[in-house]
Amino acid sequence: MNVLITGGAGFIGSHIVRLFVKRYSNYTIFNLDNLTYAGNLENLKDIEHCANYRFIKGDITDECFVNHLFFEHKFEHIIHLAAESHVDKSIQNPLTFVKTNVIGTVVLLNAFKSLWKGNFESKRFYHISTDEVYGTLGPTGLFSETTAYSPNSPYSASKASSDHFVRAYGETYKIPYIITNCSNNYGPNQFPEKLIPLFIHNIIHNKPLPVYGDGNYTRDWLYVVDHATAIDTVFHNGVSGETYNVGGNNEWKNIDLVRLLCSQMDIKLFRDKGSSERLITYTKDRPGHDLRYAINTSKITKELHWKPSVNFEKGLGITIDWYLKNSSWLNNVTSGTYQSYYKHQYHK
Ligand code: NAD
Ligand code: TYD
Repeated sequence: MNVLITGGAGFIGSHIVRLFVKRYSNYTIFNLDNLTYAGNLENLKDIEHCANYRFIKGDITDECFVNHLFFEHKFEHIIHLAAESHVDKSIQNPLTFVKTNVIGTVVLLNAFKSLWKGNFESKRFYHISTDEVYGTLGPTGLFSETTAYSPNSPYSASKASSDHFVRAYGETYKIPYIITNCSNNYGPNQFPEKLIPLFIHNIIHNKPLPVYGDGNYTRDWLYVVDHATAIDTVFHNGVSGETYNVGGNNEWKNIDLVRLLCSQMDIKLFRDKGSSERLITYTKDRPGHDLRYAINTSKITKELHWKPSVNFEKGLGITIDWYLKNSSWLNNVTSGTYQSYYKHQYHK
């Protein structure tokens, strides 16, 4: 079976590629990734020589290239993760998000449709999406699979649009599809533009920790390997045409999470208690900042028997240890263009 994973050199994608390559020696796993700033083959060093793994560098928005690739390898299953994924970057440059997240998804859907020409038996297009498509919650309530889409950022609008295209191709052309909408992931290999790796990086270097607004924004956090096992479960047992929400049942206000991170970092770095917290700096809020995300995971739990396994304090500890051990990874990705992004975003 030929399985195409797009965006497999990125944060979540690399964990899924690793899990599938190791667990399913009878599948050939193709990783299609354009290696943008967020894609990094170092994330997959340990499996790059496995016999059932192939990396292909390429752009999902390049129609000619993608069509050719599909006809060459006859992919039966797609797990689509390639995307621009950072909200702040989408506020700086929305068009890139439309191009990659919307057009790129439609290019892949078209290639899948043209290859199999209606003969979709034992084939599937699995689209990885985010809970951010639902917009924001107030202080109470949970997102369920039937919550109306109401995206507030250019990132979430582009992901919502891509979800709609996947669903529409299912209705119109009968493409068997599944969509999962997941909450915030954390863990090793996440690019230090997102909250947790950025703050780990800044604490190491004694730089300010820029908390947006009053810090009372709330996110649900899931350890990335748990997301990978959820994707494995849905890939093998999910029902075509269904959507499943994935989450950690683990809500944190940003400021509480940052305080927990600071206290763990003080211990790991043998610094005085409170020294990391002193780096907290409240900064200008993100425009259109969603107040709260939280997930009702009862569908995936009841129907597919998946649940998260890694407790947050433990997962955060493993994550910090990984960044401390892999300082060359962190240094490599924060040299070059990262510096100009940082200056633009934080005026530092
Ligand atoms: P990431 O930014 O770390 O990785 C994205 C990958 O896509 C990179 O390897 C990049 O090189 C690749 N890519 C980008 N544009 C491409 C193109 N045009 N052609 C080919 N490859 C391209 O993102 P991530 O955090 O790993 O997220 C992966 C997916 O999961 C995304 O679709 C995202 O919307 C979704 N998601 C992420 C989270 C999260 O918390 N990070 C939560 C829920 C859903
Ligand atoms: P982020 O990791 O960018 O994920 P998302 O926006 O997709 O939820 O941000 C998580 C939360 O942390 C979000 O409420 C914004 C906040 N945040 C800060 O306060 N400061 C920062 O420098 C960053 C990157 C995020």
